[in-house]
Amino acid sequence: MHLASIDPFEPATELLRRAADLLRSGGLVAFPTETVYGLGANALDAGAVERIFAVKRRPPRNPLIVHVADAAGAKRYASAWPEAAERLAAAFWPGPLTLVLPKRPEVPDIVTAGLDTVGLRVPSHPVALALLREADLPVAAPSANRSTQLSPTTAEHVAKGLGDAVDLILDGGPTSVGIESTVVDLSGSRPALLRPGAISRDELESIVQSVDAPAGRDEAAAAPRSPGLLGRHYAPRAELRLFDADGRADAVEIAREAVASGSTVGALLLHPFDAPVQHPLVMPEQPSEYARRLYAALHSLDDLECSVILAELPPDQPGWAAVRDRLRRAAL
Ligand code: TXA
Ligand code: MG
Repeated sequence: MHLASIDPFEPATELLRRAADLLRSGGLVAFPTETVYGLGANALDAGAVERIFAVKRRPPRNPLIVHVADAAGAKRYASAWPEAAERLAAAFWPGPLTLVLPKRPEVPDIVTAGLDTVGLRVPSHPVALALLREADLPVAAPSANRSTQLSPTTAEHVAKGLGDAVDLILDGGPTSVGIESTVVDLSGSRPALLRPGAISRDELESIVQSVDAPAGRDEAAAAPRSPGLLGRHYAPRAELRLFDADGRADAVEIAREAVASGSTVGALLLHPFDAPVQHPLVMPEQPSEYARRLYAALHSLDDLECSVILAELPPDQPGWAAVRDRLRRAAL
């Protein structure tokens, strides 16, 4: 396995060149973004992109996000650039926001799963930006994990999940945001939030007038504007069972039974309470801190061989929307 550590503050030119050469010759390079690690390939090389789908065992109908170095790069692959794109890009790029726009024909169909739109993002992580500039290519990059499994927030997570299937893993340390970018569809008549993320709906609506809420599951199944969001996702190996503040007594009961039947049980708790489990983790009370630690916490409970993880669902408040979304999907 080729894992190379790279200083985010001063990314080594030699290593960036090697990574860029690999991308140019159809290779796969895992790299840190501020959200999660991405598994990158040249977005204009259908064969390289095909490898991403194979390595991740990703269903072909789930489109990839194309990463570019700046808004000018994004405009090269979008066939329309509405006022909302201009404003959101100016406000949040580089950063954890993906804009879905009508695509230009240069973007291979395999990247967009045959859709006539493309997801575009300018990441803010200095290693990601330096790599995009050095390669001078649009880079298709899903999270660097097998489909449906936990997203990676460290290079070790990538190595554990994908190992030798990746040509090079750039290790820039743990990611800071910790959950995937906010995805906003700008291809319809009104902006629509497809995936909640670090940038909240309120923040988006401070820049563009109104943003439709994510569709409910049934609605999404009827009109899959974002096919990749259907079904189980972001999941640990263990069975994840959610409970809310009112359900603590039931959770304690579930934990007792599981432990009594010989299971190793972990928990993600917001309030320390007397949960009779082997591996209780008390999570931060602040949504962005919780998000930063979420996947690493679930990875660590998987490493401890937990077969059940109980997770206390944070309150139904706007600031918690992205974390609640990830926990819910992981528990499907
Ligand atoms: O933070 C992130 O977005 C990370 C880093 C690596 O940039 N990437 C990421 O990629 O989370 P992935 O493939 O795990 O998730 C991409 C999501 C999927 O839900 C997919 O369906 C949606 O973006 N998506 C991509 N292109 C789309 C399009 N044209 N229309 C609708 N949804 C799209
Ligand atoms: Mg993913």
